[in-house]
Amino acid sequence: MATTDQGTAVGTSEESKIEESKPEEPKLEEPKPEEPLAPAEPEPPMSPVQEHFIEFDYSATSSDEYDSLYGSDYGSATTSLSDSVRNYKYENGRRYHAYKEGQWVMPNDEVQQEQMDLMHHVFLVRLGGRLFLAPIENPQKIMDVGTGTGIWAMQVAEDHPAAAVMGNDLSPIQPTWVPPNISFEVDDFNEPWLQTPESFDLIHSRDLHAAVTSWPFLVGQAYEKLRPGGWYESQEHTVEITTDDGSVPEGNILKEWVRNLEKASVLLGRELHPPRYMKDWLKDAGFVNVRQETYKLPIGTWPKDPVEKQIGAMNLVNMLDAAEGYTLGFYTRYLGKSHEETLADIELIKKNLKTRKFHMYFQFCITYGQKPEW
Ligand SMILES: C[S@@+](CC[C@H](N)C(=O)[O-])C[C@H]1O[C@@H](n2cnc3c(N)ncnc32)[C@H](O)[C@@H]1O
Repeated sequence: MATTDQGTAVGTSEESKIEESKPEEPKLEEPKPEEPLAPAEPEPPMSPVQEHFIEFDYSATSSDEYDSLYGSDYGSATTSLSDSVRNYKYENGRRYHAYKEGQWVMPNDEVQQEQMDLMHHVFLVRLGGRLFLAPIENPQKIMDVGTGTGIWAMQVAEDHPAAAVMGNDLSPIQPTWVPPNISFEVDDFNEPWLQTPESFDLIHSRDLHAAVTSWPFLVGQAYEKLRPGGWYESQEHTVEITTDDGSVPEGNILKEWVRNLEKASVLLGRELHPPRYMKDWLKDAGFVNVRQETYKLPIGTWPKDPVEKQIGAMNLVNMLDAAEGYTLGFYTRYLGKSHEETLADIELIKKNLKTRKFHMYFQFCITYGQKPEW
């Protein structure tokens, strides 16, 4: 993993430019010197992914125009609670959380839980196995905000057996057989947090876009609950379908899909693209040593590099699983579309996601900052 001039970490693959007609030899670059923690001002709102070109696999033929992943090697790889939080709601054939009903637009059923766990693996492979990038050693008290299945929190608890780890979520979907140093709570992170101020060394949140009613509030709560010198880390991916070669044409349903999700998010009053503003939110809350690292998450098996291909394959399975959950809630609750109409759109979206000639990726942005020591 390398770091560019802007303090932007880039992926592990060879850095080579994408061209449609013929493959090019990768260009080797001189290693760059280590960057200081605080990047030079002025900075762009979101740290750009720089010089991380993912070369695509030219072996695709007309017979494998679409990725076929199911059945392949890449296939989909608390404590006591009252009944009310388990009294789940059902809508359009999917199961949703009961506590603070309607707060979160995605289902919490098995399908969605598998998708969350797969996404965890995508993130982990992308970060070379690192669960967080904040430069903290031996954190003793760790919080995972909106923990989902708790997979990140459980892994952190295993890696740091001397630390006490807690995770919260609207849904009690975490396993009960967990490491002894971990606990889970049902809670709403959009409400004032009940934890003791200045008590945590590390607070982490991941993949919460469109779940947060006010990011400045959430970041401010994290600041309050951290001890001086502690770190907050946000890991979020963008929801834009990005390419370096314009291979997804204007008018394609994937572009319309993102525009519809953006429209619905505005109606819901949630930010779909938090990485764009995250550095400023951290600085405004009082964090120092704020840094953002941006990585590409390819979608599909189009990359040539085996690691990129593996990430792309897992990410595609993840997208195919997530597409229904995401789209159903947003389209039927906020855009007035019928269930049938939405299912038809979802089918088309999935088909386009599998198109190998679309060299698509998301950006995965890790933003972290430190509460001043005094
Ligand atoms: C996309 S999942 C990410 C889960 C986990 N952070 C991960 O990366 O594996 C978002 C999670 O946020 C939870 N969530 C959404 N709104 C919430 C709220 N207001 N309070 C607590 N949890 C919430 C959802 O229940 C879901 O488990």
